[in-house]
Amino acid sequence: MLRVLKPSGTFILNIKEKVVNGECSTYVMELILAMHKQGWLWTEEFIWHKKNCYPGKWPNRFRDAWERLLQFNKNKKFNMYQEEVMVPMGDWAKTRLKKLSQTDRKRDESKVGSGFGKNISNWVGRDMAYPTNVLHLATECSNKKHSAAFPEGLPEWFIRLFTRENDTVLDPFMGSGTTNMVAKKMRRNSIGIELLPEYYEMVKSQLSSVDVYLLEPRVKPVVSASLNHRQVKSNQLKHTV
Ligand SMILES: C[S@@+](CC[C@H](N)C(=O)[O-])C[C@H]1O[C@@H](n2cnc3c(N)ncnc32)[C@H](O)[C@@H]1O
Repeated sequence: MLRVLKPSGTFILNIKEKVVNGECSTYVMELILAMHKQGWLWTEEFIWHKKNCYPGKWPNRFRDAWERLLQFNKNKKFNMYQEEVMVPMGDWAKTRLKKLSQTDRKRDESKVGSGFGKNISNWVGRDMAYPTNVLHLATECSNKKHSAAFPEGLPEWFIRLFTRENDTVLDPFMGSGTTNMVAKKMRRNSIGIELLPEYYEMVKSQLSSVDVYLLEPRVKPVVSASLNHRQVKSNQLKHTV
C-alpha cells in the first residue's frame, strides 16, 4: 500500500483484535507501531458502531458493537472533501445555540491539551455540521454471500470523504466486492485483490461487461473507429450509469 498509494491519498484499514483465551490480542497495536516504523502517519481512528449488533451474554464482557477503521497517510496534507459528508445540525442546536455563554462566543481551547478548540457561536444559523468520527451503520451480511461483508454505507462514506469522481479506489481484501460495487456507483475506478478464487469469480460475474473490460488486459472497445480517446471514455461512462 505504501508503494502504490498516491502522496495525497488515504489508506483506511478496518481491523479489530480477536479475544484469545479471554484476553484481547495486541496485534492491532503492534501493527500500528510497525506501520509507523514503515513510514505511515497514523492520522485518525474512526469507529463503526454496529447498530444491529445481536444480543448475547458473556461472563466477562458485553457484546461487541463496534469496529475500528484506522486512517493512515503518507503526508500531513492529503485530499479530504469534508463538505461531502456533512450532516444536519440536529435538534440540539435549537436549544444549545439559543443561549450562548461568554465561553461559547470565543475559541475555547481543549482542557486536556489535545489542541482541538471550539467556538460554538460559529454554528449559529447553520443547517449542516461536520460529522463526528463515529459512524452508526447496521451490518448487512445476509444477502452478500460473504460472512464479513461491509455495509455499503461504510466504503461509501470514506470514498466520498477522500476521493473525487474518476479517482481510483483499491481494496486489497476484496471479499464480496462491496467496495468495488460502491466505487462503481460513485463513478470511481476501482481495483480489488482477493485470495480466494470463488470470491474473485463471484465479483467478476456481478460486474457488467464495461467493468470487466476495465479489469482485464486491454482489448479493443467495440465503438465507432471515429471516436477519440475522450469520446470512448465518455461512451463507457454512459454505459456504467
Ligand atoms: C473481511 S473479508 C472482506 C470483506 C469485504 N469487505 C466485503 O465487503 O465483502 C477479507 C477478505 O480478504 C481475503 N484475504 C485474506 N487475506 C488476503 C490476502 N493476503 N490477499 C488478498 N485477499 C486476502 C479473504 O479471503 C476475505 O475474502
